[in-house]
Amino acid sequence: MMSQKTTEKDEKKRIIVFDTTLRDGEQSPGNSMNIEEKVRIAKQLEKLNVDVIEAGFPIASEGDFEAVRRIAASIKGPQIAGLCRANPKDIDCAWDALKPAGERARIHTFIATSDIHMEYKLQMEPEKVLATAIAAVKRAASYTSNVEFSCEDATRTRLPFLAQVVEAVIDAGATTVNIPDTVGYTIPFEYFNIIKYLKDNVPNIDKAVISVHCHNDLGLAVANSIAAIQAGAEQVECTINGIGERAGNCSLEELVMTLRTRQDILPFFTKVATQQITPASRLLSTVTGIMVQPNKAVVGANAFAHESGIHQHGMMMDSSTYEIMTPESVGLGASVIVLGKHSGRHAFKKRLIDLGYELDDEALDKAFKKFKALADAKKEIFDEDIDAMMAEQVLRLNDRYQLDHITVTCGTFQSATATVQMQVDGVTVRTAELGDGPVDAASKAIKKLTRSKCKLLNMNIGSITSGTDAQGEVTVKIANGDNRAITGRGSSTDIIEAAAKALINALNCQAAVNREKIVMMNTSGEGE
Ligand code: KIV
Ligand code: ZN
Repeated sequence: MMSQKTTEKDEKKRIIVFDTTLRDGEQSPGNSMNIEEKVRIAKQLEKLNVDVIEAGFPIASEGDFEAVRRIAASIKGPQIAGLCRANPKDIDCAWDALKPAGERARIHTFIATSDIHMEYKLQMEPEKVLATAIAAVKRAASYTSNVEFSCEDATRTRLPFLAQVVEAVIDAGATTVNIPDTVGYTIPFEYFNIIKYLKDNVPNIDKAVISVHCHNDLGLAVANSIAAIQAGAEQVECTINGIGERAGNCSLEELVMTLRTRQDILPFFTKVATQQITPASRLLSTVTGIMVQPNKAVVGANAFAHESGIHQHGMMMDSSTYEIMTPESVGLGASVIVLGKHSGRHAFKKRLIDLGYELDDEALDKAFKKFKALADAKKEIFDEDIDAMMAEQVLRLNDRYQLDHITVTCGTFQSATATVQMQVDGVTVRTAELGDGPVDAASKAIKKLTRSKCKLLNMNIGSITSGTDAQGEVTVKIANGDNRAITGRGSSTDIIEAAAKALINALNCQAAVNREKIVMMNTSGEGE
C-alpha cells in the first residue's frame, strides 16, 4: 500500500486531491453520465493527475457498479474510490467493484453523526451510530488497508462526539477520515476551528489523513476548503466545474489555482497538471451538456477576457496588470485549427489520441465517417468540434433512438413543416408534422415517432466555435415524470438539426434511466 500521508517537502505541504466528479458530481440533476462517458472522464482525470478518483457508488445501480469496475480496471495512476453506506452489503459490493484496482482501491464508507441526521434520518442513538461506524471500517479494512470514513454532516455534529467517532474509526483501521460540510452550512472561520479542534483533541489523529468535503450552498465551498487546509487538513474533495449535489461541491480548478497562485501566503501544493484543467472542464460540459456560466472563475468563457479599454491597455503594457494567472497555465490557448476536409485517417487518429480517445478499428471507422461529414459542412475543425462529435455520436453507443435525417420548410407566411426519419429500436420510421416554427415542428415529429409525451422544460442555443459555419450547440431539458429533469445535447452546423439531436439525446437518456434497475437509496438503512 502506498503511503496515505502527505510528505513535508521543504516548507511546503502536499495536498491530496480527491476528485468526486463521477460520484457526488454525477449525483446532481442533469449531470448523469453513461458508463462510456464516465470512463472517458476518468481518463481525463488521470491526465489531470488527481490523487484519487471517486468513481461512483457501486450499490446504487448496476450502471454505477459497472462504471466503478471498468474505471478500477482501466485507470492506472490515481487511486480509485467507491462509496458505500456503513453496512456489510454496501461494503462488500463496493469491494467487488473496486477489486480490479488492486492496491490502488479505496473503500469509502460513511454514516451521519449530527443530532439532526441521527434523530430524523437514521433514527439511531449516538452509541449505535458509533458502533456501526466502527463495524463498517473493520469490515472495509478486512479487504484493504486503504479505507476512508466520512462523518456525514460533520459540521453540524457536536464536537466531542465528532472527536469520539474520528478517534474510534482511526483505531478501527480508517486511514483517511473525512469531515464533510454536507449541507454547505459552515463558514471559513468555523471550519478552521473544527479541523483545529480535531487536530488538538483526537489523540491518534496523526495516524490518518484528514480530508475535507465542502458543498457550495452558501458559495463558500472553496473558501472553506482553504481554511481547512490552513488548519491542517491534508486531503480536499472536489469536482470539475464544481458540479455536485444542489449548489455543487468545491471546484477543483478554483481550489488548485488558488493554491498555485497564492504560493506567497499558502505553503501548499498539489500534483495536478493544471494545463489539463480547461480540457477537463470542456470535456465534462460536452458530456453532460451543462455549460459553465461565462463568469465562472478559471474556466468560464470570460475568465481571461479583458473588455474595458483601460484593462486592455494595461494588458498590452504588461499582462500582470490585470492577470493573476496565465491562460496557458490552465491549458487555455487560442483555439487552433486542427483538421479540415483534406485531413486523412492518420491525422485524425493522431488528433484523437492527443485528445485522449483510444478507439478500436470499428469505432475509428465510424468516427472518421462522422468527421468527414462534419468537415464537408464546416471548413475548419477545432478540438472542441471533435469533442462534441465524439460525445454525441461515437461515445453514445447504445442509443435506442437515432436521427437519420430531417428536412424543414418554413418562412414568414407559412407554418413550419418538419419531415423526420429516424431509427427506433433499429426500425426505420418517418413522419411529417406542422408546428409553430421549425423547432416545434421537429419536436412534434420526434415525439410522435418515439411515442413520447415528454414536456420540454427549456432549450439553450449556443455555438461551439466561431464563424458563420460554426457548429451550433443546443441543450434541452425534458421532464422525466419523477420531478427530475433530463438533459440532452446536440450539435450540428444546422441549428434545427442540433435541436432535433438534443431532444433525441434527452429521450435516449430517459430511456436509459428507465432501463437501469435503480436500487432505491434508502439512506435510513445505514445500519442494516
Ligand atoms: O456531502 C457528503 O457528506 C458526502 C459524503 C457521502 C462524503 O458526499
Ligand atoms: Zn457531498
